[in-house]
Amino acid sequence: MPRESIQGGLISTPTKGEAFARLRDLVLREGGLDLYQYRERWVERRLAVRQRALGTRTLGAYLEALQADPGELPSLLDVLTVNVSEFFRNPQAFRIIAEYALPDILARKRGQGVSALRLWSVGCASGEEPYSLAILLRESLRETIAEYSVLIYATDVDRKSLERAKEGFYPQAKLAQVPEALRRKYFRPEGRGLRVRDEVKGMVIFREHNFFLEEPTFSRLDLVTFRNVMIYLTPSVQRQALDIFYQILNPGGYLVLGRVEGLQGAARELFEPVSISERIYRKPL
Ligand SMILES: C[S@@+](CC[C@H](N)C(=O)[O-])C[C@H]1O[C@@H](n2cnc3c(N)ncnc32)[C@H](O)[C@@H]1O
Repeated sequence: MPRESIQGGLISTPTKGEAFARLRDLVLREGGLDLYQYRERWVERRLAVRQRALGTRTLGAYLEALQADPGELPSLLDVLTVNVSEFFRNPQAFRIIAEYALPDILARKRGQGVSALRLWSVGCASGEEPYSLAILLRESLRETIAEYSVLIYATDVDRKSLERAKEGFYPQAKLAQVPEALRRKYFRPEGRGLRVRDEVKGMVIFREHNFFLEEPTFSRLDLVTFRNVMIYLTPSVQRQALDIFYQILNPGGYLVLGRVEGLQGAARELFEPVSISERIYRKPL
């Protein structure tokens, strides 16, 4: 039976608020995630997944199980970092990046005589998003790619996802959105799946990075994707993230959010919309 504290001679279980505060401290200290930055209802739903799995009805009981079993924290972090992704997720957004954003960025680079091209996929999960960007860039630049110094930074807080990303190996089903011609050109068959070819892999730098606890580290970016991460965050953390993107993007740089995300309130003044439906924005020149 969970009995957490002894007060005035009475043994008492923690209230839901106390249990949550302790759980948050533990997850922050040992897992590096600050649960207060994520929407409360979302966190509760994710915790409920683990509570159901362990059959612990109260948060206090779950906390006790978490403290007792060192194997539980990785499982909890797993459900807290939803890392579903796919290649060319929401293809229309990638179409706009290929047909509008990249030509615009490249025209400006040429005008400025600048060859450095920098992109950042924040919350890159298992690498599908940054590899999709790398493929788009190769398709857009073709033989002129040699004239540019292209770097795609790809970061995530989840170490396991990053390991998969660096492997660059995917089951066929993950590549449903990749046109056959691109599949043949940029992947090689291996066992039951496909592996990203080295020329694509070589364009992406993967790094473990907690966007909300660490300095942004990259700047002078031409395009940032922050897709399907913002949806989990509290409005004030969303706003902080958008301020950071404004600071680290070059003038004329692009910000791509997820389809169900968007700029709220004052953040709308920072960026101009490029595609409202696809949540693509540009920092004014
Ligand atoms: C649903 S996936 C989105 C993947 C990809 N951007 C896409 O749209 O397909 C969300 C990713 O954000 C990552 N994430 C959550 N909190 C983060 C944080 N504080 N810093 C960096 N990445 C984070 C998760 O680990 C997860 O891999």
